Amino acid sequence: MKTRITEMFGIEHPIIQGGMHYVGFAELAAAVSNAGGLGIITGLTQGTPEKLAAEIAKCRELTDKPFGVNLTFLPSVNSPDYAGLIKVIIEGGVKVVETAGNNPQAVLPHLKDAGIKVIHKCTSVRHSLKAQAIGCDAVSVDGFECGGHPGEDDIPNMILLPRAADELDIPFVASGGQADARSLVASLAMGAEGINMGTRFIATKEAPVHENVKQAIVAASELDTRLVMRSLRNTERVMTNDAVERLIEKERKLGADLKFEDIIEEVAGVYPRIMMEGEMDAGAWSCGMVAGLIHDIPTCKDLIDTIMAEADQIIRQRLTGFLNA
Ligand SMILES: Cc1cc2nc3c(=O)[nH]c(=O)nc-3n(C[C@H](O)[C@H](O)[C@H](O)COP(=O)(O)O)c2cc1C
Repeated sequence: MKTRITEMFGIEHPIIQGGMHYVGFAELAAAVSNAGGLGIITGLTQGTPEKLAAEIAKCRELTDKPFGVNLTFLPSVNSPDYAGLIKVIIEGGVKVVETAGNNPQAVLPHLKDAGIKVIHKCTSVRHSLKAQAIGCDAVSVDGFECGGHPGEDDIPNMILLPRAADELDIPFVASGGQADARSLVASLAMGAEGINMGTRFIATKEAPVHENVKQAIVAASELDTRLVMRSLRNTERVMTNDAVERLIEKERKLGADLKFEDIIEEVAGVYPRIMMEGEMDAGAWSCGMVAGLIHDIPTCKDLIDTIMAEADQIIRQRLTGFLNA
């Protein structure tokens, strides 16, 4: 399948693995890229330029295919060394950067001068248009269903994708709720030129996370995610668990008075405990509604090959069949 996204990133299939904190390590990124998609290393999980440089080098040893690095710009107490991270991305010869969170305008010139393609993740049409205006090469349009931060507009992809298609000139991929060939074909029909998957890629053999995390996703239904931190305008879709229910209770009690400090125990520094140690109740971790569509733990290659083969079948047989009836 050839789209502006496969052409732009030099990949075989229009499937991207979105950056994921404590999931997007070299092992996963390389497995996705080796399977013909675009794997992404999560920059902030490495934290320092030295560690990110080592992770990029490791990924390069595991694959000779293109892969990217995610740079997430979120308000934080100790701001990461973004200039240093960008330096090692450029020196490491990475050709794709997925930006997310705040407007990446300040870093774009450095990336563009180095010949790096930038795909910015947005949760609204207005942010997508802004990304296009400042010179991003593509956008990843993240609907309300998505795992992680869906923004504050609550527009699901069934509306958001065709709206983006109506407004954008640059290519975009559909992100949020994507799991299989049906997602891919539907997204293409709505104007996207590929898909970005987060949660689906956690439940794969190569994802370097604790088995408990994969099993939790397989066991979950589409009813098992919750939205937290809305009153802080930092809404996050997470898998429900004891810590999340406690957090929601605090939100209910404190209402508009809720401060980040009130929920620090449930959200700060919990990722290593969950993803590495498999302590599934340690705190809130991002997970999409798409968990309801995930029932197995395939290799990335099996997952991507199945999506592409079934997409071919849906397009050539099911859809064409309607026309020929
Ligand atoms: C566990 C987890 C961690 C994530 N961490 C990040 C992150 O650090 N930066 C980022 O831009 N997106 C992050 N995301 C969002 C994903 O890149 C992707 O946009 C999202 O998962 C798509 O929705 P889906 O889960 O329905 O596929 C994360 C998602 C999950 C599930």
